[in-house]
Amino acid sequence: MPMSRPAAFCLAILCGVSTAWGADDVSVAQRAAALATERCLSCHRMNAGDNPPLVPALQGQRKAYLAWQIRAYRLGFRDDPQAHERMWEPAGKLDDALIDALAGYFSALPPPVGTPANPALAAKGRALYENGVPSRNVTGCAACHGQNAEGNGVFPRLAGQRADYVVRQLMLIQRYLRNVGIMHSTVDVLSEEDFAALAAYLQSL
Ligand code: HEC
Ligand code: HEC
Repeated sequence: MPMSRPAAFCLAILCGVSTAWGADDVSVAQRAAALATERCLSCHRMNAGDNPPLVPALQGQRKAYLAWQIRAYRLGFRDDPQAHERMWEPAGKLDDALIDALAGYFSALPPPVGTPANPALAAKGRALYENGVPSRNVTGCAACHGQNAEGNGVFPRLAGQRADYVVRQLMLIQRYLRNVGIMHSTVDVLSEEDFAALAAYLQSL
């Protein structure tokens, strides 16, 4: 039986719409993978151990955190010299769909493998990470970043992250050069030696 004209019309619209949605999803994921290969991976290397100094590993990082940080660079919210000189341009023209797809691409890759640290330094870092400084009423990092530094949602994964990058971010946060208000009560009382110990521990995970 031939289809009535309105029915055929509806079918065409539905098929058209659903095909277009499917195609967009695929193409935005493909565009993200292509951009990652052509651009991002020149600094954020596939083997995170090969990254140049101060370039963080993105592999296995939380998707929500990655998407938020790329937007922060696009908006100029992260504005220390490294951010300005190396991330503003690659993030500057990305649209929201591509940002989410890039975040999905990197978060789905296996996280970096930890590198061994000086055992005494790592033990000091671990104690600070897990317990904070009880005598000064300072909470540990694990309360937000997870017992194994695995992160959650907008709380970043720290496990396996390179130590030079972690130390630098802690200094920026402590000096209000990166705006993470929620961390101040924890980092404000810590010294540069504490930062080095925390970073050595986190890099070893
Ligand atoms: C020229 C080298 C370079 C290129 C190319 C580059 N990045 Fe970066 N990226 C960096 C550096 C350096 C940092 C650390 C900046 C800082 O200290 O804020 C960074 C930081 C980041 C962060 C923050 C990670 C975190 O743990 O907070 C994200 C997310 C990111 N880049 C994503 C990307 C994406 C996606 C691309 C490709 C579109 C890209 N980057 C291209 C060098 C680069
Ligand atoms: C109250 C919750 C909270 C506590 C406690 C906390 N953090 Fe954070 N931390 C965050 C949040 C949220 C962010 C992401 C900030 C942003 O969006 O820019 C962050 C970001 C970071 C970053 C930057 C990660 C990256 O990839 O750029 C580092 C490093 C870090 N925290 C280390 C620590 C350490 C070490 C401690 C303990 C001394 C700690 N944090 C305690 C909530 C917390």
